[in-house]
Amino acid sequence: EDTTGHPITDEGVRRRDFIHVATGAFVGVGAAAAAWPLVDQMNPSADVLALASIEVDLAPVAVGQAIKLNWRGKPVFVRNLTPTEIAEANKVPVSDLRDPQTLAERTKEGKANWLITLGVCTHLGCVPLGAAEGENRGDYGGYFCPCHGSHYDTAARIRKGPAPKNLEVPEYAFTSDTRVQIG
Ligand code: FES
Repeated sequence: EDTTGHPITDEGVRRRDFIHVATGAFVGVGAAAAAWPLVDQMNPSADVLALASIEVDLAPVAVGQAIKLNWRGKPVFVRNLTPTEIAEANKVPVSDLRDPQTLAERTKEGKANWLITLGVCTHLGCVPLGAAEGENRGDYGGYFCPCHGSHYDTAARIRKGPAPKNLEVPEYAFTSDTRVQIG
């Protein structure tokens, strides 16, 4: 049982260990590749999904790279921002933003380079581009949603197009300098 009294099932443990990277590589814990189709077929209950969190080793993600993970059936984008991208995000007057938030408010203290958001467009839920190498990152260098043309900046804030809100920042915490637990 975990601290909330829920039993930790095999499915829950496997799901927590699952990490998919858009580049086709796997980072972090083992047995993940084999577990995914199983978990998919088993269609784990909502209870199991609610418990699932993933822990990711970010050490392989170089400055300027972004990766895509799956968490609770949703894409999560993790981006290691370059100093230029951080400067770009910080120079925008917050009052000019549709959904006003600073980069600092969207990242953890001392870790402003790690931008972690859901990969779900806040317009109608498409998966924006920009997490994989060479994908269109839009006019503001962050993410671009091809469905109806929403452009997100280097803090994943909505800057142009129909989306009303910034890409959502999920609940997460750093468990060490390079490891992060999402959920
Ligand atoms: Fe992204 Fe419409 S779903 S712009």
